[in-house]
Amino acid sequence: MHPHDAKAILREKLKAQRDALPPAERKLAADKALGLILQMPEWKRAQTVCLYASFKSELATSGLLESALRAGKKIILPRVADENQRCTLHHVANPASLVLSSLGIPEPSAELPTIEPTAVDLFLVPGIGFDREGNRLGHGAGFYDRLLSSARSKGFRLGYSYDFQVVPAIPCEPHDVRVNAVATPSEIITARTH
Ligand SMILES: Nc1ncnc2c1ncn2[C@@H]1O[C@H](COP(=O)(O)OP(=O)(O)O)[C@@H](O)[C@H]1O
Ligand SMILES: [Mg+2]
Repeated sequence: MHPHDAKAILREKLKAQRDALPPAERKLAADKALGLILQMPEWKRAQTVCLYASFKSELATSGLLESALRAGKKIILPRVADENQRCTLHHVANPASLVLSSLGIPEPSAELPTIEPTAVDLFLVPGIGFDREGNRLGHGAGFYDRLLSSARSKGFRLGYSYDFQVVPAIPCEPHDVRVNAVATPSEIITARTH
């Protein structure tokens, strides 16, 4: 099977599993993943962090946004810029001021100052699935593949997901950008090969 088709099948399966999680488990899982990330030297060191606002059944990122704000880190959030599926990065002084995009994703408004991907020390990378080699399955638009390849791998790339989203092997294509590590509620997985 072509990796493109294998990806589509795996996306549906993992999204259904994620949608089925009970609310009490969601909160506990996000708290546990947050506790692990706060211990990471890469997180502690990072002054400029590119985060994202979780939506629907994604593992919640609100605790990380609050922690980054309290720690005085510079918080950057991506905004989908155009139909060419590119995004711009914006400095967000107040994460409460996000607006809903056409896709229903909370995003910074276009007027906020933009920054270059090369200025980011750590990217929190959303994913529908990851494997232990750092391969990543996104939503299917390739946003993070474009963003991270333009950042020329300077910033640390930290995947973020529930434990069950880490699978034995993610189908991948040459344009896919791997993460350096994946944070889940039970462990920080350092990618095996790079
Ligand atoms: N750096 C890039 N430049 C141009 N197109 C890209 C780039 N990265 C990904 N794409 C395109 O984005 C589309 C979706 O990529 P895919 O890896 O399937 O999605 P996702 O990473 O969101 O799971 C593909 O058609 C791919 O060719
Ligand atoms: Mg991809």
